This record gives sequence, C-alpha cells and structure tokens, in this order.
Amino acid sequence: MTDLWNERAEAYRTSQTHATGDDLDLVVEWCEPAAGVTVLDIATGGGHVARRLREAGATVVTTDAAPGMQPDVVAPADDLPFAEASFDVVACRIAAHHFPDALEALKEMARVARERVVICDNVFTSESAEEADRLRDPSHVRNYGVAEWHSFFELAGLQVADEAFMVRDTDFEDWLARTETPADDRPRVRELLTGRIHDGRLDLPTVVLKGVKS
Ligand SMILES: C[S@@+](CC[C@H](N)C(=O)[O-])C[C@H]1O[C@@H](n2cnc3c(N)ncnc32)[C@H](O)[C@@H]1O
Repeated sequence: MTDLWNERAEAYRTSQTHATGDDLDLVVEWCEPAAGVTVLDIATGGGHVARRLREAGATVVTTDAAPGMQPDVVAPADDLPFAEASFDVVACRIAAHHFPDALEALKEMARVARERVVICDNVFTSESAEEADRLRDPSHVRNYGVAEWHSFFELAGLQVADEAFMVRDTDFEDWLARTETPADDRPRVRELLTGRIHDGRLDLPTVVLKGVKS
C-alpha cells in the first residue's frame, strides 16, 4: 500500500479538505503547542498538522509509512522507532482508518507519549459506507465508532479527557479523484453513500479525542 500513498503525495499536500478545517483547528488546540512542547505527528500525509503546530512554536517530528510523504521518519504507526515517553504529545489526524491494526498503533502512540494523545478520524456510519470507502480506496481498512475508540483508549492505557464530534464535508468528485477511483466504480460508490451527499459535497462524520496517560 505504500506505493499507492507515494503516488498520492501531491494530492494530499494540496487537498483543501486536509489543509484546513475545524477538526484541524481542534487537533492543534488540544496539542497545546508552544515553544518547548514536543509533538509527534503520526501518518503526517501532506504535513498539515505538523505545519500548524510548528507555526505555533512546537517542535515537531513527523512519521509516515510512505516515503513519498517526506516524513522526518518513515515508520508504520504500529511500530514506532522511539523510546517510551519521547514526546509530550502524539497526534494522528484522519489516518487511523488506513492502519492494519489501529489498536496496536494507538498503544504505540501511548507508549511514546509523555502526556497525551490526540486522535481525529472519520467515524463508522454503516457497512454500506465501509464498502464505499473500500471501493473508493483499496487502502481503507475500517472506520471505528466512538464507543470502539473509547475501548481502544482504555486498552492503550489512555483516559478520554475530551472529545468532540463534527461533520466535515468535502467535494465528492475531488474525493474520488484524490484516490483515482476507477470511473466504472464511481456510480456504485455514490449509490452506497446515498443520503450523505448534498449539492455535490460528501458529509464526513468525524471524531476528535484527547487521551491522557492513566
Ligand atoms: C489521509 S492521509 C493523512 C492526513 C494527514 N494526517 C493530515 O492531517 O492531512 C493518510 C496517511 O496515512 C499514511 N499511512 C497509511 N497507512 C499507514 C500506516 N500503517 N502507518 C503509518 N502511516 C500510514 C499514508 O501514507 C498517508 O500519508
């Protein structure tokens, strides 16, 4: 799957859905960036979380499984090459649904974090929507419900200190173009997502969770 992500690097760097948004603002706020604060940005993609945290004065290290995303360190989220408590905060935005083992990745984030972990991801809505996600993007593994995230946090030794639910949206055609979904599959993706597309924009239910080490 990393080859696929290497090819997509530019699309994710320039994606407005990733470069901006209330979810991005909240992830940055909950990282409490400031001079002297160290943050690890997992699955950095186009680097939007890292950019915003650096602008706010934090010292940031980025990781990603795909070298094409040009992270500081190439590493899968479930096997991080850092010692315990290496960073004040670990952040991971809109990426966990691609991880083969999201719980193992969260445990790794908790291990290398000194204080807290901030996660933002799309939320499970239905099996039809999961089918649409997999058809649109073969690297999609699974979106999780809020209750599943709570149990992951508990198993990773994190207490949920804050959480927010929001509905982001994105241009539906741009969303398909970003992953180069074959033209033949697009009508089926649209059909599976009936009710979530309005005026050409797709609703993306999203959760942001702040976990503190317990
Ligand atoms: C949607 S992009 C991330 C968006 C980015 N965090 C942001 O806020 O704009 C998903 C990223 O997850 C990375 N990725 C996929 N599977 C991964 C894994 N198992 N471990 C680490 N990174 C992974 C991809 O290479 C890609 O850069």
